[in-house]
Amino acid sequence: MRTHYCGAVTAADIDTIVTLCGWAHRRRDHGGVIFIDLRDREGTVQVVVDPGTPEAFRLAEEVRSEYVLKIEGRVRRRPPGTENPNLPTGEVEVVAQRLEVLNPSATPPFLLDDESLSENVRLTYRYLDLRRPMMQRNLRLRYRVAKLMRDYLDAHGFIEIETPMLTRSTPEGARDYLVPSRLHDGMFYALPQSPQLFKQLLMVSGFDRYYQIVKCFRDEDLRADRQPEFTQVDLEASFLDEEAIMGLVEGMLRQVFKAAIDVDLPDPFPRMSYSEAMRRYGSDKPDLRVSLVLTELTDVMRDVEFKVFAGPANQPDGRVAALLIPGGGALTRGEIDAYTEFVKIYGAKGLAWIKVNDLACGREGLQSPIVKNLHDAALTAILERTGAQNGDLIFFGADRAKIVNDALGALRIKIGHEKGHAVDAWRPLWVVDFPMFEWNEDEKRWDALHHPFTAPKPGHEDWLASDPGRALSRAYDIVLNGWEIGGGSIRIHDEAVQEKVFAALNLGEQERRNKFGFLLDALKYGAPPHGGLALGLDRLVALMAGADSIRDVIAFPKTQRANCLMTGAPNRVDERQLRELHIRLRNPPTSAG
Ligand code: AMO
Ligand code: AMP
Repeated sequence: MRTHYCGAVTAADIDTIVTLCGWAHRRRDHGGVIFIDLRDREGTVQVVVDPGTPEAFRLAEEVRSEYVLKIEGRVRRRPPGTENPNLPTGEVEVVAQRLEVLNPSATPPFLLDDESLSENVRLTYRYLDLRRPMMQRNLRLRYRVAKLMRDYLDAHGFIEIETPMLTRSTPEGARDYLVPSRLHDGMFYALPQSPQLFKQLLMVSGFDRYYQIVKCFRDEDLRADRQPEFTQVDLEASFLDEEAIMGLVEGMLRQVFKAAIDVDLPDPFPRMSYSEAMRRYGSDKPDLRVSLVLTELTDVMRDVEFKVFAGPANQPDGRVAALLIPGGGALTRGEIDAYTEFVKIYGAKGLAWIKVNDLACGREGLQSPIVKNLHDAALTAILERTGAQNGDLIFFGADRAKIVNDALGALRIKIGHEKGHAVDAWRPLWVVDFPMFEWNEDEKRWDALHHPFTAPKPGHEDWLASDPGRALSRAYDIVLNGWEIGGGSIRIHDEAVQEKVFAALNLGEQERRNKFGFLLDALKYGAPPHGGLALGLDRLVALMAGADSIRDVIAFPKTQRANCLMTGAPNRVDERQLRELHIRLRNPPTSAG
């Protein structure tokens, strides 16, 4: 139907006759001449319709936003002074000789140029939202990244193998999406939270290097970087140790960043232990663009008068830490109050602070609601360890370690970006040396920090029973600019070690058999040493696209409440469907609803 894409008409085409198809982005009447910006996936071009072509002109008068048009015309240079240097087609325009309305459009609910659209409107009319150049660009970038990854993995001997979507529950720790079985009354499939068990089985089967770009499903609380269904670039390999796997993944990311967005990532990526990440950044996914760091103070606060500090400092799971803000002396009371409100989101009860006015004046040089309650040794430790200078401000967190880490970790990022303590750069990081287990205070038990098939570090096997909190694992996470973009581990291939891990997790024989019996059986038949990793494709592409939310790189995403506003999912189904599935609702809809 067409000879050129609208966005691809350039000065090289001057004097040629082109046929274009696209959408009327905008129509302007200019005293006898009609201008139509015609848009397709490659961009827009200006079309001029003048009364000299009466048939085309008559039709052009009727054209409205988002009409689908076919235009035939001659390309000419725009008159001097009317060029648009912001458009690739800005030097030229197409003088229409023939115009055909292929399809009119109802008045769209919004203009595609409108920057202030609510996300609800965008998601309800997603097919229109996706026409916007930004969304076209994002989805193309996503395609390109996936293609580059496939090429890289293929070149490194990985083959893509599909795994089931209707399966048994997998152990990634979120809630499952369940699918009722029609043939088996009262039974359910689970949608996979990841292909974890299957990819390990493929290693037992000898495929050696597997990958899959695959949908995963997790029913968890949603945020900007979480969707109920999301995509992993999932891989697994045999006879490779963590160094080899991390090297492969780094190499892939470097290659993809270079080819897709012309960014050179560091070689190698830096590494940090989990404990250092928590100590200095309050997070297992530190945003290394921000220079601010936390300072440990728990040990010097045990005997201070200030109960707010001494209390947590004397608790086994308590922490007192500081966050130094260079130049923070300039913060106003209003700003400090706003930050105090901010940390409350993370459960903090307050946000103590000290302004360092003049170090030479000792206590008198410090302005603060709390110094009167701190003895000299504590004050000296605070100033020395943080390295505070005149004009700085120090914030404090004191509580259960989790709360202090969450609160100061988030404050660090907020102030870092707001107050110019961050660089504009790409800062990838491997986080390694994770603990095997995490104490679950509510349930009073150890939980696996990754999943129960993660291998312990050599030499840490004995602690699995004697001191579970001390055992470290062979897991690794990859973090980019404060987002966890992937994670993986070397797996357990030895039955005896697997037994010890299950014992530490207090998983009884019955539960093990019931949950992963097939994997445990498979491990008996010559399982090779193996390991792998999964990247979150949505997060990775969102970062590369500069998007705030992964919703902006997913064609048809769901809201924070897991609704699809466009299709109206989830929705009620009729009684007959339910009956076939042997389901009776606890709260049937009332006749009104
Ligand atoms: P994990 O649970 O860490 O590991 O998931 C891997 C990566 O997937 C992304 N991700 C998500 N992205 C969007 N929405 C979500 N709800 C969501 N949940 C996770 C993250 C995360 O780093 N089977 C293991 C991998 C392995 O051990 O090989 C796994 O699934 O970027
Ligand atoms: P108060 O003794 O409650 O007046 O608190 C004195 C200062 O300590 C105030 O600046 C509070 O914001 C701060 N504060 C209170 N609880 C905490 C806490 N758990 N961690 C850090 N600072 C706190």
